Amino acid sequence: MSTTRTSVHGQWSSRLAFILAATGSAVGLGNIWKFPYITGENGGGAFVLVYLVCIGLIGIPIMMAEVLIGRRGRQSPINTMMTLAKEEKLSKVWALLGWSGVLAGVLILSYYSVIAGWAMSYIFRAGSGAFVGVTAEGVSSIFSALISDPERLLAWHTLFMVMTLIVVARGVRSGLELAVRYLIPLLFVLLFLLVGYAYTTGHFGEALEFLFKPDFSKLSAESVLIAMGHAFFTLSLGMGAIMVYGSYLPANVSIARTSIIIAVLDTLVALLAGMAIFPIVFANGLEPGSGPGLIFETLPIAFGHMSFGTLFGVLFFLLLSFAAWTSAISLIEPAVAWLVENRNMTRVQSTIWCGVVVWLVGLGSVFSFNLWSEFRPLGMFPVFADKNFFDVLDFITSNVMLPLGGLLIAVFAAWRLSRSTSFDELKMGDGLAYPLWRFLVRYITPIAVLIVFLDALGILPDF
Ligand code: PHE
Repeated sequence: MSTTRTSVHGQWSSRLAFILAATGSAVGLGNIWKFPYITGENGGGAFVLVYLVCIGLIGIPIMMAEVLIGRRGRQSPINTMMTLAKEEKLSKVWALLGWSGVLAGVLILSYYSVIAGWAMSYIFRAGSGAFVGVTAEGVSSIFSALISDPERLLAWHTLFMVMTLIVVARGVRSGLELAVRYLIPLLFVLLFLLVGYAYTTGHFGEALEFLFKPDFSKLSAESVLIAMGHAFFTLSLGMGAIMVYGSYLPANVSIARTSIIIAVLDTLVALLAGMAIFPIVFANGLEPGSGPGLIFETLPIAFGHMSFGTLFGVLFFLLLSFAAWTSAISLIEPAVAWLVENRNMTRVQSTIWCGVVVWLVGLGSVFSFNLWSEFRPLGMFPVFADKNFFDVLDFITSNVMLPLGGLLIAVFAAWRLSRSTSFDELKMGDGLAYPLWRFLVRYITPIAVLIVFLDALGILPDF
């Protein structure tokens, strides 16, 4: 029996609108900024392989679980968890899962917005011709001038937050659906063009080898955790963003098929970004493991030397900003939806409240690159010994909160929801697909997440 609940926040106009919105959420800084730099820091091929396995075995099944829970509950993740727990006669403690998602969304957006600000400022850098004929040292100094200036970072962070809040305040449907319809295809075209340019550098083979030839000696337990955390991050899983988007999904849409499409598109963007960036890194003798500045210090070199580079540069950073924008919206949506439902506030008021909190937390990340660059907030713990505020937030959200959230979502969907509820909602028919999904979320996903955790904490013996 399916429920006939509807969401007070509205519904996507079609299956395509949901795919675009969820792809808009998934494809973002995680794919183009983060994936290349963490791949660089973690040695390449073996890391990429673990990441791909995590997408397939953990990411897709959890995405399906999140969408199914969201569509079943049709409310913000907190209230959805509360309602479903009540219906299935489970403990109210499950609502905590919604709360941790809201918190993770606020924390992630606080630093995400700062990095999106870098992308926005590069639109103007590129447009002013600053990259024409530039050398590797030249770009490096442009980048450090930007991040060492707290006022500029603050201004961009503020602007990005305001842009995000405007869309969220207007509601999920108006504007957003239309924007992603054009932006996502355009992003693909541009990425292909960049890969084409990267091919001409003569270092394409080296880059492919770096990305796809696994050397397991370079893989540490921490790298495996980072790869898994990134699978959650890049698919927007473990914190309720996809759950809340699922709550606006029309009842007849196939959850499995749409989840696979979203995951494939997201992975494609990440791999294309890697194939565009690493040839340029190697061609210019740059360091693949140089950290968060990687794309900001490599791509401008390509733009500075190709024909129409100024135009492509502007377009690229514009699209990166848009990609970040469509993700940012989904990071704050769970919190805003909850305030609307529970605090009797209008959508505009809720959005402003959430925005202020996120903006304030974001100051910590703004200062992490300049005034507080030496500050180690959790320096007493070995894992955090050389991490500044921004690094700590990034590590705790991506590598702890999202995988733990995902683990609990899997446990809830596969062990606590009745079989008839998930069977009903997933509508996969009587073939093998449903049992396979259930097997993955019951056993493979939770066990894999746990093993990776314990291993990274050093609790498991060395194999
Ligand atoms: N998936 C987004 C990215 O890859 C980030 C994100 C994480 C968005 C979690 C929503 C929720 O950039």
